[in-house]
Amino acid sequence: LTVSTAGAVAAGAPGHAAARSGWGRPAAAPAAPTPGSPGIGDSYFPDYGNGGYDVDHYDVRLRYEPATDQLSGTTTILARATQDLSRFNLDFVLGVQSVKVDNYPATFAREGAHELVITAPRPIVSGQSLTIVVQYAGVPSQTRVDGWTGWTKTADGALAVNEPESAWWWYPSNDHPSDKATWDVSVSVPTGVEVVSNGVQPRPPLAEPGNRTRWGWRSATPGATYLAFLAIGQYDIVTDTAPNGQPVVNAYSTTLGALGPAARASIGRTAEIVDWESGIFGPYPFEAQGGVAAPANSISFALETQTRSVYGPGFWRRGSNTYVVVHENAHQWFGDSVSVADWSQIWLNEGFASYAEWLWSEEQGEGTAQEWFDFTYASYPADAEFWQVPPGNPGANNVFDGAVYDRGAMALHQLRLAVGDAAFFRILPAWTAAHRHGNGTIEQFQALAEQLSGKDLDALFTTWLFTKGRPELTQAASAAR
Ligand code: ARG
Ligand code: ZN
Repeated sequence: LTVSTAGAVAAGAPGHAAARSGWGRPAAAPAAPTPGSPGIGDSYFPDYGNGGYDVDHYDVRLRYEPATDQLSGTTTILARATQDLSRFNLDFVLGVQSVKVDNYPATFAREGAHELVITAPRPIVSGQSLTIVVQYAGVPSQTRVDGWTGWTKTADGALAVNEPESAWWWYPSNDHPSDKATWDVSVSVPTGVEVVSNGVQPRPPLAEPGNRTRWGWRSATPGATYLAFLAIGQYDIVTDTAPNGQPVVNAYSTTLGALGPAARASIGRTAEIVDWESGIFGPYPFEAQGGVAAPANSISFALETQTRSVYGPGFWRRGSNTYVVVHENAHQWFGDSVSVADWSQIWLNEGFASYAEWLWSEEQGEGTAQEWFDFTYASYPADAEFWQVPPGNPGANNVFDGAVYDRGAMALHQLRLAVGDAAFFRILPAWTAAHRHGNGTIEQFQALAEQLSGKDLDALFTTWLFTKGRPELTQAASAAR
């Protein structure tokens, strides 16, 4: 036990005086500490995250060579044990050189594709605070899991951006949205290379020997591990102040060429869009805003990385695109602040971010949400595969299926029709307030919607979220058209 945890030792736990007392009644044999579970209990991804501890903070200190994709460094994890532990796991795939737990060298072994099993030199007691220091190195683009890597090597650097697996390739973690933590990231790169990440820059980039520069970023609001990101390469960084006074940091890859202006005309409107969304969803939940335009030939998706979404180059091919900016920033409320407790609940992210696009269209005079509903409904014939994926439980292989997005938005429009605009626009900010910086479930959302509308919404949720097949349109839905 360390001094700092002495007060937290549970009665009867090993290390507590009573547990090893030799007087009075024979003390019950203390339960032996057990291994922390290799998964946190996700129904789709049972080995994601880990059991037995809870992380408060990650300090990620790295060194990166864009020329060779060599990544090395040290991550310090501040955590607390939630059970007596004989050992515990972290999710990680790079080569580990050493692990220390509370300053003592720990033994470690790899198990399966992405589990690092750590055995501390002394038993860990429930409630004990843990300082875990992991030293590592590797080439993330060459470190494959089932032939695949979530780390994208680009011509001028790299992107650590993916959902749900992305931390594995750059920092050891309890990789599940149900264990949120704050984090600091610092990366040393050759001078002239930019490093962009979440949150704010607590200090300017620091010069280091060997013509290197160390960049630093801080995320002071707790977040899910998959929402931490790194963009390393040649970027124009544009800073501003948002209407709410927060720092805005946008970054544009210099490799975009003819796509650059459309990227700027879109991501450049982030603060305006966040301001508009705040009026509908409630106060913006984080400390900074912004977006990153990823390089040409990099990712083919966008991701709502906390405070600073990352956009693949494909979104600018047909010109400016404010819809994707609306979508990713809506996720700052729906996904980032209110996060899924289980990956089966992905509708709480994608359905809401997609419906935000319909609201933006309505606002822009480019079609009402009702018109988008009708258009989407008509786009998929009753026998289309689309209707076979229920957004409320799409299956582990369909987490990002089009149905989660489009039928997911249709479900929210049906809710709006059922409860009326007044109740609907009370439910959205009530939801983001009730689970701010936490987790939520579809069941909890339905209960809140029923409470605020006074309506029984069971049939609506069952039909639109949990039943295969194209729902028949109700009287109410048709009447509203
Ligand atoms: N949450 C992201 C979005 O809506 C989707 C990410 C999909 N992930 C991927 N690797 N393609 O915008
Ligand atoms: Zn999305």
